[in-house]
Amino acid sequence: MTLTFTLNGARRRVSVPPLKRLLDVLREECGLTGTKEGCGEGECGACTVLLDGLPVNSCLVPAAHAAGAKVTTVEGLSRNGRLSNLQRSFVNLGAAQCGMCTPGMVVTSAALLATLRGRVPSQDEVRVALAGTLCRCTGYQKIVDAVRAAARPARPAKSSASGKRKRAAATRARARAAAGRPPKPAARGTAAPRTGRRGAATKRRRAAR
Ligand code: FES
Ligand code: FES
Repeated sequence: MTLTFTLNGARRRVSVPPLKRLLDVLREECGLTGTKEGCGEGECGACTVLLDGLPVNSCLVPAAHAAGAKVTTVEGLSRNGRLSNLQRSFVNLGAAQCGMCTPGMVVTSAALLATLRGRVPSQDEVRVALAGTLCRCTGYQKIVDAVRAAARPARPAKSSASGKRKRAAATRARARAAAGRPPKPAARGTAAPRTGRRGAATKRRRAAR
């Protein structure tokens, strides 16, 4: 059969046997290997994609079910090579624990956040949403934290003029260090740091009194 559907925002047309699994169509016909196969039996959630916005186990979905539908894979969550807020949150909070489970976790979490429209889910809500995606290594806490952090509106960064100057100076110092250049000498008028020699001279003067 000829299958026409919208994949990550673009129209796709592929010729496939109607009972071929959506998972295989995505990986083999469309070259989107971000969707993983774990169990192949609907148990682990590694193969989760969004079908018209709802998470499904693509290892259980015949390709024919995607006809005319919108399919979103983990690749479709980023834009122009930039990770989504949710994906960055997974990276920043150490929630991208293994390559097999993470795509399914991220896609399932994206569906949850889309239904909440900006509300931060409770820990229990995230855990219930992720109940069908199994982790057998580290556990779920970092994943739960990452999903909740992604739902929070970004706080405006506190910035004072002196804070900005200090950050800029620290950045320049790190750049000098990374380039193997010595630190800049202190500006004129800046108090010289106390050294062991000065301390020793003071002790000698005090002892002589
Ligand atoms: S591979 Fe589909 S649920 Fe495990
Ligand atoms: S995240 Fe894959 S086994 Fe834990």
